[in-house]
Amino acid sequence: MIVQSATVPVHECNADALILALGSDWENSPTITEIDSRMSGQLSQWIRDGELSTKALKTSTILSPSGLAAKSLIVVGLGKVDASKTTDDDSQIGIAFRAAATGAKVASQAKTRKIIALAGFLENFGSEPSTLQAAISQSAVAGSVTGGYGQDLFKSEPAMSPPETILWYDIAEESIQRGKIVGESMSLVKRLVNLPPNYLYPESFADEALAAGSEAGFEVEVWDEAKLIAEECNSLLAVSKGSTRPPRLCIFRYPGADADDTSEVAPIALIGKGVTFDSGGYSIKPTDGMLTMKCDMAGAATVLGIMRAAALLKIRQPIIGLVGLVENMVAGNAMKLGDILTARSGKTIEVHNTDAEGRLVLADVLNVALDYSPSHLIDFATLTGACCVALGNDVVGVMSNNAELQSRLLNTASTVGEYAWPLPMFPYFAEQIAGKVADIKNVGEGRWGGAITAAKFLEQFVDDKPWVHLDIAGPAFLDSAKSWCDAGGSATMVRTILKLLEP
Ligand code: BES
Ligand code: MN
Ligand code: ZN
Repeated sequence: MIVQSATVPVHECNADALILALGSDWENSPTITEIDSRMSGQLSQWIRDGELSTKALKTSTILSPSGLAAKSLIVVGLGKVDASKTTDDDSQIGIAFRAAATGAKVASQAKTRKIIALAGFLENFGSEPSTLQAAISQSAVAGSVTGGYGQDLFKSEPAMSPPETILWYDIAEESIQRGKIVGESMSLVKRLVNLPPNYLYPESFADEALAAGSEAGFEVEVWDEAKLIAEECNSLLAVSKGSTRPPRLCIFRYPGADADDTSEVAPIALIGKGVTFDSGGYSIKPTDGMLTMKCDMAGAATVLGIMRAAALLKIRQPIIGLVGLVENMVAGNAMKLGDILTARSGKTIEVHNTDAEGRLVLADVLNVALDYSPSHLIDFATLTGACCVALGNDVVGVMSNNAELQSRLLNTASTVGEYAWPLPMFPYFAEQIAGKVADIKNVGEGRWGGAITAAKFLEQFVDDKPWVHLDIAGPAFLDSAKSWCDAGGSATMVRTILKLLEP
């Protein structure tokens, strides 16, 4: 995909689709004024008549607009943008991302729209050139790059065709190039999540990781089954036992830009759950619950996407990424209820439910992460349906052993307009996972508070290091499309973590 600055005046732009941002303050927008005069006042007339809406993420398409060289005009409402607010949940950065993604998604619904142009976005936000403005610009570009990217990977006639070329008005070249990296990394996450389990399994995920590593310039080490046995990752291996697909654990190393200066800086560790298919094992899922379980590797995809973006963006912070890749299946040699596992850390685990497999995988991956002496750990996992019950499908559950890290994460999510919310980690929740015959068991007593008892289980494997757990079971995979994202993988938390790593 080519993403670059537009070079001709907006009315001369002969893109297949010109995407125009329409804020509530449109009367003061130079871009709207210019286009309106080229259209002999038609545009402002339509806005006044209510034919074109300024409401957030409402779109209208005008074919062959008179006075413009563009073949179509797509107007995207921005709603009311409050330039003074930077950290509410409708952040400027979030609005810019979603509006540009919405426009790109509408454009992608006709396959003839190979060249799209976007105009009038930035002038709706604060006008001073600033870090915030660069973040808004980068976010808008990322949205335009990934918004047209859909889940129809195997349709003979795709429903969505992302553009080949994106032209941007009023956005600095550096923000364009950085936004492109973020948007493409998000599309990578979406693609991996959307690939079905007969295409994406532990080995093929590891191949994808190797490819991303050599493209973006970070190191990828792949542990195969023999290495996992040698490393005593018995908790992860137990989940994988019933599958004919052998497990993998991948370790990504990015030393940070200016590695000479940063070699003293401890890495941040990003850990991902990579269950490429979750049947539930012997605690088998019903058909409805199992159907979308290709998405159970979204945490691992998120880590890979962030690594790719961080390396290409040349972020200073050293990062280490670790993903545990397994398939949770039923077979004569599969993990059974009542099995006792000895995790890599030495802790013993009673298996009371084979469908609580993500935490068994992460127990060992978190333990491997500690070998790299990280300053902080952040894990990403489609861990519990209980998190969706607690917070709904659009909100990431945030659980941590460190108040400072947790509030930093929540504030960053809010700044970029992603929805994340804390769940309490009161010590008494841990009583629920006390083992009967071993150290701990892999589920709590009954269903209540299931997202938290899962987090309490993970907490046992981070050795009191500052750690935050992101339960992305709801937002990682959309059952139905949003205006700004097709159904399927959503790449949730990529923008938040990149912002956290490089404020
Ligand atoms: N992968 C699922 C959680 C999930 C549910 C992700 C819905 C995405 C959408 C996880 O492995 C699981 O099965 N969790 C169980 C835990 C229970 C057995 C304690 C659950 O949530 O029911
Ligand atoms: Mn499960
Ligand atoms: Zn699972």
